[in-house]
Amino acid sequence: MKKKLLSIVLCVAVISSLLVGCGTKDGAATDGASTGKDDAKKIGVAMPTKDLQRWNQDGENMKKSLEDAGYTVDLQYANNDIATQVSQIENMITGGCDALVIASIDGGSLGTVLADAKTAKIPVIAYDRLIMETDAVSYYATFDNYMVGTIQGQYIVDKLDLENQAGPFNIELFTGSPDDNNARFFFGGAMDILTPYIESGKLNVVSGQKAFEEVATLNWSTEEAQKRMENLITAHYADGTKLDVVLSSNDSCAIGITNALVNAGYTKDNFPILTGQDCDITSVKNILAGTQSMSIFKDTRTLAAKVVEMVNALMKGETVPVNDTETYDNGTGIIPTFLCEPVFADAANYKELLIDSKYYTEDQLK
Ligand code: BGC
Repeated sequence: MKKKLLSIVLCVAVISSLLVGCGTKDGAATDGASTGKDDAKKIGVAMPTKDLQRWNQDGENMKKSLEDAGYTVDLQYANNDIATQVSQIENMITGGCDALVIASIDGGSLGTVLADAKTAKIPVIAYDRLIMETDAVSYYATFDNYMVGTIQGQYIVDKLDLENQAGPFNIELFTGSPDDNNARFFFGGAMDILTPYIESGKLNVVSGQKAFEEVATLNWSTEEAQKRMENLITAHYADGTKLDVVLSSNDSCAIGITNALVNAGYTKDNFPILTGQDCDITSVKNILAGTQSMSIFKDTRTLAAKVVEMVNALMKGETVPVNDTETYDNGTGIIPTFLCEPVFADAANYKELLIDSKYYTEDQLK
């Protein structure tokens, strides 16, 4: 009798472990998000931080678009802490994710954990920021980072009418975090446009700070940018020297720069031309208030939709859509990339770009 009971218990245990074994890798049977075709494969989405509005939007758009396509999603934010991001990715790998979409904090710090992904044959898509020095990255999806910089540079050239005006106009330069591969593309693009005018003397970098290392802002920190702008004002502009332009690679830096300028007494009537990127709500409000001049609009819905297409292709073994196989070498070779196209938003076109497209409501910008 006892023997019979034991064999029934064993049998049940074996059957249920088989069922669990089938269900967990794909999260299918248990998660109930099955489309019926892909058995609800699970996608890990690792975002750097909730501190910046854009990453919240990116994360939410990715989650929604992937879920709409029938996937289960493990979305994590790492509070800009590298160790947290590494352990979140580890959990995604051991938790049975079928693909990883990662916007890295420090592009050079994920090699070890991604080696595990490669061993487990989990494809990795680098999202927005390239992940460096690892051959575990399968694809990269981003906005054209170099073009972001050239648009910012050209905006300055057009606003100052540098083709026709002699100047000299005084300018200061700010870019982003040195551990973010994008920062060099943004800055490089802008400087390719601005350098001829600096060399001809139409633009004058009063502080003399022009090298990437001198103008970088660790972690894209608003506070760091504010501090540096305060120091620049004290050292070079406190005597009334006019500041005509500040190149800022993104909005989080532009907001710090704006704070410093406002605290130093600049108003919308004498505010320098100031660039940005992301169309964060604070920056769009500043654009409407006449302080920040423009921001680059990178519609995160477009990027999310593209990444979902890439995930779908990967999961079905189909050809993954890419449109650049030359530009982004992560140190182990070129990573096939899909580049979305950025545009600029300013007071003249924000309605069409941001409101009519339902990216924001009018109320959000009040
Ligand atoms: C992104 C920018 C963003 C910056 C700071 C960059 O990698 O491409 O859109 O402003 O990071 O988060």
